[in-house]
Amino acid sequence: MEFSTKAVSPEKDRTDCLVVGVHEGRKLTPAARLVDELSGKAVSAVLKSGDLTGKPGATLMLHKLPGVAAARVLLVGMGKEGAVSRKNFRDALAGAYRALAGTRSATASVHLSEVMVDGADGAWVLEHAVVLANEAAYVPPKPGMKVEADSAPRLARLNLAAPAGMTPAQQAAAVLRGTAISHGQDLARDLGNLPPNICTPTYLADSARALARSHKLKVTVLDEAQMQKLGMNSLLSVTKGSRQPPKFIVLEYKGGAVRRKPIALVGKGITFDTGGISLKPGAEMDEMKYDMCGAASVLGTLKSVAELKLPLNVVGVIPTCENMPDGQASRPGDIVTSMSGQTVEILNTDAEGRLILCDALTYTERFQPEAVVDIATLTGACVIALGNHASGLFANKDELAHELLAAGEEAHDRAWHMPLWEDYQDALKSNFADMQNIGGRAGGSITAACFLSRFTKAYPWAHLDIAGTAWRSGKDKGATGRPVGLLTHFLMRRAAS
Ligand code: BES
Ligand code: MN
Ligand code: ZN
Repeated sequence: MEFSTKAVSPEKDRTDCLVVGVHEGRKLTPAARLVDELSGKAVSAVLKSGDLTGKPGATLMLHKLPGVAAARVLLVGMGKEGAVSRKNFRDALAGAYRALAGTRSATASVHLSEVMVDGADGAWVLEHAVVLANEAAYVPPKPGMKVEADSAPRLARLNLAAPAGMTPAQQAAAVLRGTAISHGQDLARDLGNLPPNICTPTYLADSARALARSHKLKVTVLDEAQMQKLGMNSLLSVTKGSRQPPKFIVLEYKGGAVRRKPIALVGKGITFDTGGISLKPGAEMDEMKYDMCGAASVLGTLKSVAELKLPLNVVGVIPTCENMPDGQASRPGDIVTSMSGQTVEILNTDAEGRLILCDALTYTERFQPEAVVDIATLTGACVIALGNHASGLFANKDELAHELLAAGEEAHDRAWHMPLWEDYQDALKSNFADMQNIGGRAGGSITAACFLSRFTKAYPWAHLDIAGTAWRSGKDKGATGRPVGLLTHFLMRRAAS
């Protein structure tokens, strides 16, 4: 989709659809008031009828209003008059884009971005208007199926009314940011939504190579023999039951000073998680194709960062394999020696994410990173704790946690800081090895993070548990593209520092 921020007055605008906001209590925004006057009070008449209340995201489409050049006018509820809350603003835009998608409009002029948003500046408003538009336009890939030739024009060009006080350069920068984040999210969503027979570790490696080619990144893919040589026995224990070869993907973006240490993003890439011998129950097991969404968010974020040409260095590290039951699969009770030399008693083969991440985190030491963030659909317990709105955030350094929290707020891709107190470490005590790979049901997301913390002593590190935020279940099942927004904002902040 193409975006512009031209100042076009509603009376002259020949767009397919003018999108204007109305507040609760029949209060019109400036753009709605202008349309109302041009059309001989047509908007007021509709509001008097009570068909639109001003509830955030509620919409009403009007056609061929007299005095208005546009073919349609979409009225959108924005909530109470005055500065709109960030949630109401996002709900209003999402409602507007949904309504637009139900029409044959190819172009639209959105005036909702003129309102004041509480606790946000104009750049935030424009960026979110772009990201939400792309999100609404997203269509999941359908492998092997011919897409029906659809004669209906899709929304292709959006003009966004610029918030007051922004220079054209600031407007362009905000649109560019929103576009780059959207492109990263689209990649993450596509990879997440692909079926697990297509999106295999080999497919992820090929996707990384393609990204490297198109965005001038350095890519290295290690095979099983190379992983063996490095001593990644914990990672390799997970892939033993699978016929799919595992891959270890390393992507390097070099946009910063040669001597500046990189920031590393480490993403869990289990392309399907059956649980292994500790087999999962059957219900909704298909959703375990999303167990590579951490990996997908690393690829997506690198795409955003490269598009934005951020002046910093970033390394993406992706351990990827399948977790399958088999005669060769690892058993509960097996003990493996991780790349760090620490031994792990595998008491549950379904706690496999931490087993692949621990070796990836040890490998990452070689980059002497400025900071490391791992991203993983790690625990069902995190979904119980935080639901679907916040990712779980754990860190061995408070400053890093605070940076990530702030980035999440900016992107509306939020995380919540969870404890990583030493008291929780006792749950991982094993009678036979340095640690066991599970800590019992209580505080499951915390003991999982504690496990990882034993492999991240060499650098400032944070862990994002995205089990509740990376995809939606039910009728709207699909990958969300999170936390590409959070990570891109984090890197933008680091690039500016
Ligand atoms: N990939 C799952 C985590 C998960 C479960 C994400 C449900 C989203 C929804 C992970 O590999 C896993 O199976 N974790 C176990 C850990 C347990 C065995 C300690 C879990 O959460 O049940
Ligand atoms: Mn599992
Ligand atoms: Zn898993």
